[in-house]
Amino acid sequence: MKKLSMIALFLISSTLVWAGSNGVHSLRGDVALDASSVAGSDKEWLADGKVNREYIQQPPLVPHDIEDFSINQEGNDCLNCHNWNSEMPGATKIAISHFLTRDNQALVNISPRRYFCTQCHVPQKATSALIGNMFRSLSEE
Ligand code: HEC
Ligand code: HEC
Repeated sequence: MKKLSMIALFLISSTLVWAGSNGVHSLRGDVALDASSVAGSDKEWLADGKVNREYIQQPPLVPHDIEDFSINQEGNDCLNCHNWNSEMPGATKIAISHFLTRDNQALVNISPRRYFCTQCHVPQKATSALIGNMFRSLSEE
C-alpha cells in the first residue's frame, strides 16, 4: 500500500513538473506556434542520384530540390517531367498505380488521389534519425 502511494505521489509530482515546463515539446524545437520555425542547416543529399528503395511498397524518395515546383488547382509542376508523355530524360515516369481510382478503374490521366505528390514522395537529405528506432532496410538484411 505504501509503495502504491509512493508511486502515485511520484506521478503527481512529475505531472506538475511537466505542466510547469511550458507545455508541448515538438520536434520542430521549442518555438512558439505563431513564430517562424528555425530554418534547418543545409545538409548533403542522401545519395548522388536516385535513392535505393528500402521496402517494396515505398514511394521513391525525391533526389532533387522541389522548392520551385508547385502543386495546386492550377497545375502540377512535377507532372511536367514525370507524366507518362513528358519528355524529360531520366525522370522516372509515374507508375501505372497512379492512374487507378480506389475501385481499380484505370483513368486516362493521373488519379486525383495521386495528385499531391509530396503527400508520399519527399526529398531526403543525409541526416540522423530524429528519434532512435530499430528499422532495418531490406538491403541491410
Ligand atoms: C524539371 C524536371 C523535373 C521536375 C519538375 C520534377 N522532377 Fe522529379 N526527377 C527529375 C529527374 C531528371 C529525376 C531523376 C534524377 C536522377 O536520376 O538523379 C527525378 C527523380 C525523381 C524521383 C525519383 C524516382 C526514382 O525512380 O527513384 C521522384 C520520386 C521525383 N523525382 C519526384 C518529383 C516530385 C514529387 C516533383 C514535384 C514536386 C518532381 N519530381 C519534379 C525531374 C524532375
Ligand atoms: C498516395 C501516395 C502517392 C502519391 C500521392 C503519389 N505517389 Fe508516386 N508512388 C507511390 C508509391 C507507393 C510508389 C511505389 C509503388 C508503385 O509504383 O506504385 C510510387 C511510385 C512512383 C514513381 C516510380 C515509378 C516507377 O516505375 O518506378 C514515380 C516516378 C512517382 N511515384 C512519381 C509521383 C508523382 C510525380 C506524383 C504526383 C503527380 C506521385 N508520384 C504521387 C505513392 C504515391
